[in-house]
Amino acid sequence: TEVIIVKNEDEAGEIYANCVAGLIKNKPNAVLGLATGSSPLAAYRALAAKVKAEHIDVSEVRGFALDEYLGLPLTHPESYHSTIHRTVVEPLGLNPDLVHVPGDVLDGAPLEDGEKIEHAGADYDAAIEAAGGIDVQILGIGTDGHVGFNEPGSSLASGTRVKTLAEQTRIDNARFFDNDINQVPTHCITQGIGTIMKARHLVLLAFGSGKAEAIEETVEGGVSAFCPASALQMHPHATVIIDEEAASRLR
Ligand code: F6R
Repeated sequence: TEVIIVKNEDEAGEIYANCVAGLIKNKPNAVLGLATGSSPLAAYRALAAKVKAEHIDVSEVRGFALDEYLGLPLTHPESYHSTIHRTVVEPLGLNPDLVHVPGDVLDGAPLEDGEKIEHAGADYDAAIEAAGGIDVQILGIGTDGHVGFNEPGSSLASGTRVKTLAEQTRIDNARFFDNDINQVPTHCITQGIGTIMKARHLVLLAFGSGKAEAIEETVEGGVSAFCPASALQMHPHATVIIDEEAASRLR
């Protein structure tokens, strides 16, 4: 795993933007793996600025998001469908028809709708495969070491599937739901660690001291399902871009 320590989120964003802009110039229909949350926002901003400044044609760029809450309608402002469209599709000017979020086919279907939910994960993995796989997957990391919504204990070989959200993650994400944990969905659909590991390049971003322990486990701990992000150690092309605070526990 390559570890790059940066001054701030903007510097990390520049590194991501240069990498992805170069990719799109070589492969106009590049497949981007997208994440929500705070960590990738500066990277999306930097990429959008570069696309504009250099007049890069993104009309054929495709995207697959990591995860989605279950039980929220797609139109809910905090659904990952809405979030990805607001933070990535619109600022970059991507074709929305080419950008997919795992819950799109479910559209707020109730958890009891087992039939709809049963095939959604495998269908999503098949769609990624049919697109030729993900070229660059951007990742954030949870304070508990999750990537996507693969919480501690998740199989390192997992595909896209429905999961229960960990209590800690619901606490962490309450800030998007009026600081009221009761409004945070209890379930999600997420790319598995096995799905994520198939991407050709992984770029994990983490900032702030709250991520220091998870980063230490990810980079210097043993590979273990207790820290799902530690699977990155087995990936042939993984780049971890972090600030000094997130790096503070590294040796
Ligand atoms: C988001 C996702 C999550 C976040 C993680 C960190 O699609 O899959 O794993 O990346 O929870 O969130 P932030 O960046 O908000 O600290």
